Amino acid sequence: MAMQWNNNLSVGVDVIDNQHKGIISRINDLLHAMSQGKGKNEVGKVLTFLADYVVKHFSAEEALMRKYNFTGYAEQQAEHAQFIKDFSLLKNEFETRGITSTLVLQIQRQLCDWLTNHIINKDKQIGAYIKQCA
Ligand SMILES: [Fe+2]
Repeated sequence: MAMQWNNNLSVGVDVIDNQHKGIISRINDLLHAMSQGKGKNEVGKVLTFLADYVVKHFSAEEALMRKYNFTGYAEQQAEHAQFIKDFSLLKNEFETRGITSTLVLQIQRQLCDWLTNHIINKDKQIGAYIKQCA
């Protein structure tokens, strides 16, 4: 169930790749905390930590896109904003209902699947664009 970074997810920009690895490791911390039956407090902390990290990562990625005048900026920013919105709904769900099987499924879909798709379909374009500018 754990996510794993592999070369297929490399966007070709070290700072972004390292942050993506950081997100994946925090998602794994979250999955681990839930599967170990850690208390709501503990899982809540990991979830908050992940949310903060993702927000910081998006800002860094957006700053990089602005620096290079990346053409797909608006589209990227819209996806990031939607993700943050969905993530906060997920957090609300957790705060109201705790750890449920629905939440685990949502995390799988909204975090793991979304991140993989976003990196492959969107973030890789940033790396390719920067390379072409250099
Ligand atoms: Fe992105």
